[in-house]
Amino acid sequence: EKQGFKHFMLKEIYEQPGVVRSCLESYLEINWTSQETSSSPYPIRLGLEESLLENLEQVQIVACGTSWHAGLVGKYLLEQVAQLPTQVHYASEFRYAPTPLMPHTLTIGVTQSGETADTLAALEMEKQRRNGVGEKFQARLLGITNRPESSLSRLVPNIIDTHAGIEIGVAATKTFVAQVIAFYLLALDLAHRRQTLSRDRLGVLIEGLRQLPAQIEQVLESQERYVEALAHEFVETHDFIYIGRGINFPIALEGALKLKEISYIHAEAYPAGEMKHGPIALLDAKVPVVAIAMPGTVFDKVLSNAQEARARDSQLIGVTPLDEEEARHTFDVVLPVPEVDELLSPILTTVPLQLLAYHIAALRGLDVDQPRNLAKSVTVE
Ligand code: F6R
Repeated sequence: EKQGFKHFMLKEIYEQPGVVRSCLESYLEINWTSQETSSSPYPIRLGLEESLLENLEQVQIVACGTSWHAGLVGKYLLEQVAQLPTQVHYASEFRYAPTPLMPHTLTIGVTQSGETADTLAALEMEKQRRNGVGEKFQARLLGITNRPESSLSRLVPNIIDTHAGIEIGVAATKTFVAQVIAFYLLALDLAHRRQTLSRDRLGVLIEGLRQLPAQIEQVLESQERYVEALAHEFVETHDFIYIGRGINFPIALEGALKLKEISYIHAEAYPAGEMKHGPIALLDAKVPVVAIAMPGTVFDKVLSNAQEARARDSQLIGVTPLDEEEARHTFDVVLPVPEVDELLSPILTTVPLQLLAYHIAALRGLDVDQPRNLAKSVTVE
């Protein structure tokens, strides 16, 4: 079943180009074989009830763990692309401290298993408390999952099936990437409805999405061996710091979570600009720093934050498209990713971080697919 891969996790990392392609194919009416940009000016078809997305004033997202990280990328997209104020809540917090009721609110539950107790309870609570308090407060619930047959869909009639299929490794990989793709489609659909993006920009982003499967393949092909070799340097490391900014801050969080869950190495992530407000005190030669540095609004900022870490003797690993020559000034090691539109970059920056966590854990001889103390679906509170 592992088809020659040592672990399900690695197999699932390699399934990502296909997963992204099949998610996009399900909801995008574009010609996949031609080199041309989308034929139709508005090719997104999510198949949701029309009333769900009409006259929205805000969005709230409830989720746990990796799905919460996907929600943070979703927030960035919904706010920056569709101009919709968005809050992301840990489901376990939201259910006991719900935010004040606001009108015209879309509530999105993100869950790979479709069975996470806290996420289901948060959605149920939202449904109950919005019952009978008037039209404009009516519950509008949307689920994002790869398990459309799960308990989630009994509670939430509108579902975006991410088409990631079942994931066996406990650490979420392909399901995370697919959840993020679902958020791109939703944010672009809303941007079109709300006219917050020009037609040209919408076309550019849709074309960019279409290129992603091949670009993920490129990252996998170029890095597999390289990251495996690099992982030897970190088998004995005790602490890691991950930094990123903007749309890649959630990817820093996700990279750190992957590392801690499967390798049991302590890892923390910060928005790079926060380092100087405390965490920089942790840095020395024993604490490597992984910096996500993608060209765009915060590129120079991240590079200078990375320099500050290097000045504290931390080994600096850059996830960046900078060529070797340029990168040498800033980073000790580079995990190269193709240069893409900043908005689309999280899909590509995720992959090297998954490989890094995987290889460190595998070299430590750990049970990567079944890490201690963790379960694939958390059906208890
Ligand atoms: C991370 C991981 C967990 C889950 C979390 C939510 O690799 O597996 O953090 O993301 O338990 O699970 P779902 O998405 O099933 O609600």
